[in-house]
Amino acid sequence: MMHPDDDVSGRRSAAWFGLDGKLGFVHRSKMYNQGYSSPMFDGRPVIGICNSWSDLAPCNAHLRQVAEAVKRGVLMAGGTPLEFPTISLGETLMRPSAMLFRNLMAMDVEESLRANPLDGVVLLGGCDKTVPAQLMGALSADLPTVMVTGGPMLNGKFRGRDAGSGTHVWRFSEEVRAGRMSTADFAEAEACLSRSAGHCTTMGTASTMACLAEALGLSLPGSAAIPAVDARRHRIAEHAGSRIVSMVEECLAPSSVLDRRSFENAVRVSAAIGGSTNAVVHLLAIAGRAEVELSLDDFDALAAEVPLLVDLLPSGRFLMEEFAYAGGVPAVVRELGDLLHADAATITGRSLGENCAGAENWNREVIRCRAEPLREPGAHTAVLRGNLAPDGAVIKVSAASEELLRHTGTALVFDTIEEYHEQADSPDLPVDAATVLVVRNAGPSGYPGMPEIGNLAIPKKLLEAGVRDMVRITDGRMSGTSYGTVVLHVAPESAVGGPLALLRTGDRVTLDVPARRIDMDVPDDELRRRASGPAKADDTGSGYAWLYREHVRQADTGADFDFLAGRRGHAVPRRHL
Ligand code: FES
Ligand code: MG
Repeated sequence: MMHPDDDVSGRRSAAWFGLDGKLGFVHRSKMYNQGYSSPMFDGRPVIGICNSWSDLAPCNAHLRQVAEAVKRGVLMAGGTPLEFPTISLGETLMRPSAMLFRNLMAMDVEESLRANPLDGVVLLGGCDKTVPAQLMGALSADLPTVMVTGGPMLNGKFRGRDAGSGTHVWRFSEEVRAGRMSTADFAEAEACLSRSAGHCTTMGTASTMACLAEALGLSLPGSAAIPAVDARRHRIAEHAGSRIVSMVEECLAPSSVLDRRSFENAVRVSAAIGGSTNAVVHLLAIAGRAEVELSLDDFDALAAEVPLLVDLLPSGRFLMEEFAYAGGVPAVVRELGDLLHADAATITGRSLGENCAGAENWNREVIRCRAEPLREPGAHTAVLRGNLAPDGAVIKVSAASEELLRHTGTALVFDTIEEYHEQADSPDLPVDAATVLVVRNAGPSGYPGMPEIGNLAIPKKLLEAGVRDMVRITDGRMSGTSYGTVVLHVAPESAVGGPLALLRTGDRVTLDVPARRIDMDVPDDELRRRASGPAKADDTGSGYAWLYREHVRQADTGADFDFLAGRRGHAVPRRHL
């Protein structure tokens, strides 16, 4: 529905700022109220800086300053930078789950890009869901795109020792519950874990997604690990601002960068860094936007050959600062060598292999070499199937206990996480160390929003008896900073009729990670009998949560909305004047 006067032969932004007559007048004139002069809109590339800054997303709170560095870079390269906000997603504050809003943020990003006079975009994100949301939206719009992540905080320091975001919080709180740490010490630790701008310091979801944006070729090489407060974070942002202007001139959109090789690289890098299980859901959703085939089983198959190289919490010992100083993602790419597609394209205009050709590994304790890995190949994501999870479930093997990887126990089933919390500390809870704890109705549709409840706290009486890990099963997720033998993302989820809904307390459940199985020992005819009971139907409601429940897909395909898969491009929309 193009107006006959619209200039579609030049840059996209020219369809706004390049017009003669009243509409060009309106578009330019109103921008002048910010003090811009006319050369800013003379046909040079107009670059959006898509900022997820928010005081309510503390991991992203410094991104206003990072945007200034991007603007310098854009101006240096002869472009016009225009910063704009989207909703932001703060993992620690948002209820019921930041994940509920990932797809909403992706829609905000995509529609903001398409509706505005932009030729390219620099995405500024950091906290867990913000990076995948921005990538999903930007890939659907398919404008030239550079991802700049906000960088991790400086290492937490508690009483002379490093303490990592998330992982140490879970550890300390278990210590308090077990009576081995005082509440005063616990309170003191609060300020010690978050002592600078930036996202979580462990290889949780934010660090993982930053590394994977780099592995996909959508961020500048070496950018993921640099601490938020390191001057090089701002230098990289400045460089990104310059680079995006050239990308617009080269017409280098994500669809010419990403293909199957990029995603295979990302899955393998995730295995090598001990990446978060959440990356499975996000990468599947991102691949769906990019129209690249990627399946849940790819995560197991591709990771099977990849050793764990990066010794970071929660799978290892160190934090993101050490990872940055050791060489970050480029050093991992070099170490992985022929396990990656070196010829995969990137936003630099060079291949991943070319970008990382000169990378050095400066600390082989933090980034191991393939000959002496932290864990042998196959220790990362295992994809399980069985009569409990016909469409799959995942377990992070490197965060699990070796002795529980083959385990049969009696199920103790909770219909809600609240129910579990109410009972977890009861001395009468019918559990022993072999019990399999199950919390359902925590999937994408059932909660809704697939919260990170999977790493259920060990019941108090077992904790006091010295139990540190148990088999736990859920259709929800767990924080990337967590550890434990936890079966996650069970699909289909219980709320949409997955067989997890049929499991009862007292049933025997067998986890067999080497065989990639998760099964309940309940005969098929008994399962059919249980399934014939009255179904709980809840299609009532309104608002965004209703939209989410109606349209969210299952975890095994990335929990995106069914109507958002694929690229919709960036054709100039109809004008309104
Ligand atoms: Fe934002 Fe961990 S809470 S990255
Ligand atoms: Mg997290």
